[in-house]
Amino acid sequence: MTPFLSRRSLLKGSAAAGAAFALGAGIAARTGEAAPVTLQPQFTEGNLQPGALTRKLMTYGLGDAPVAPGAPPPVLRLRKGEPFAARLLNQLDEPTTVHWHGLRVPNAMDGVPEMTQPYVYPGDSFDYAFTPPDAGTFWYHPHCNTLTQMGHGLTGVIVVEDPADPVFDAEIVMNLRDFRIGADGGFLPAFKPRDAARGGTYGTVRTTNWQTAPDHRAPSGGLLRLRIAATDVTRIYTLTLNGAPALILALDGNPLPAPVPLDRLDLGPGQRVELVLRMPQTEGARVTLDNVRGSAPFTVAGFIAEGSSLKRDLRDVPALAPNPIAKADLSSAERIPLDVSATAEHGARESICGSLGYTFWAINKVAWPGDVSDPVAPLADLKFGRSYVLQLTNRTPHAHPMHLHGLTFEVLSASKHATLPPPTDTILLQPDEQAELAFVADSLGDWMFHCHIIEHQKSGMSAYLRVS
Ligand code: C2O
Ligand code: CU
Repeated sequence: MTPFLSRRSLLKGSAAAGAAFALGAGIAARTGEAAPVTLQPQFTEGNLQPGALTRKLMTYGLGDAPVAPGAPPPVLRLRKGEPFAARLLNQLDEPTTVHWHGLRVPNAMDGVPEMTQPYVYPGDSFDYAFTPPDAGTFWYHPHCNTLTQMGHGLTGVIVVEDPADPVFDAEIVMNLRDFRIGADGGFLPAFKPRDAARGGTYGTVRTTNWQTAPDHRAPSGGLLRLRIAATDVTRIYTLTLNGAPALILALDGNPLPAPVPLDRLDLGPGQRVELVLRMPQTEGARVTLDNVRGSAPFTVAGFIAEGSSLKRDLRDVPALAPNPIAKADLSSAERIPLDVSATAEHGARESICGSLGYTFWAINKVAWPGDVSDPVAPLADLKFGRSYVLQLTNRTPHAHPMHLHGLTFEVLSASKHATLPPPTDTILLQPDEQAELAFVADSLGDWMFHCHIIEHQKSGMSAYLRVS
């Protein structure tokens, strides 16, 4: 991939040190085969809104290089089929872990405290190593005290490159999320119980790469690839592009068999989309990516055409190569009913990895007790190598982005989806929707299955499948 203009556009298009830092991070991560990169969660402070300093932001540093104040977590660039290693060195004042969302990694590398690894205490480290089998857009975040740690900034994007990828004229990686801060820049309480029992508590400042509606530059008439990750703890986006035609190339890390035109796309917490858009021919023309969901639509980012037109054509964009996802054998697949529901409110147990103190939600009538050393039994015991179909029913009037760790599934049916996505790790289950998810249990271990609206996850809507 040689996005000949993206380096310049990154450096120029966003005054933030963040973008430049992300670029350097990519280079650093690529040398990870020889030696592990060091990933250092730490505090930083910066201006998420003009004139108000936010302290106690959390970000990741890469290697020993000091983090520029207010720089977002770096984009990690890995390569499909090439080993990657990272040493987590905890510079926070509380335990943490790293989960590689959507990457099919061995269970011991999955980052779930008490289940797949010990907590990593302040000053301690943990070594992760794996080889990503799939190319695409993924992300990384802690799996400990997540409402706080992710809420304060610990959500970063992972790009797994495929050397066989088509070449675009530019590429921009976009990390979409909110921060819940007040006018003085300080963090507000992470949630309101009343909202946690409904759709979730929203942030107050909406950002892309920690900036409000940043403008990027891209070549006029060029093909621009966007890798977009929705990493907010609550917000579901409905994205649309104004001023340029675009195709959807991939969803949640997996390519569409053939790119389809983008109209409006729902993207829930945890989900990703890859788009290719064709920039306007006229220098200076501005395209916007907008969120049109909810009562207050807003611009997520802008793209300004620069230079003389490259005169590219969207019709020349090929489909991306599929990832090696095993196909479930539906004739032999065992069916597992899973009901997602609200539960009678009761108190929750304390946990080293944080508890909201409430239980509002359950899967198959069991509420997750928290990250404790004696968790509930698995939802099901699966046999390695066999095929399964999860029959999901949403018995609530809210949407839930349900995420399965470690195993990529195919959506066989979804009663409220107009079109079915390619294989995925996260399905945005609509209110009262029923869906069937098929997969091969081809990776051993305990795999979490939870809602990615973190308040829901942390107040009961979490469980796991065991493959043995
Ligand atoms: Cu993105 Cu269990 O997480
Ligand atoms: Cu939910």
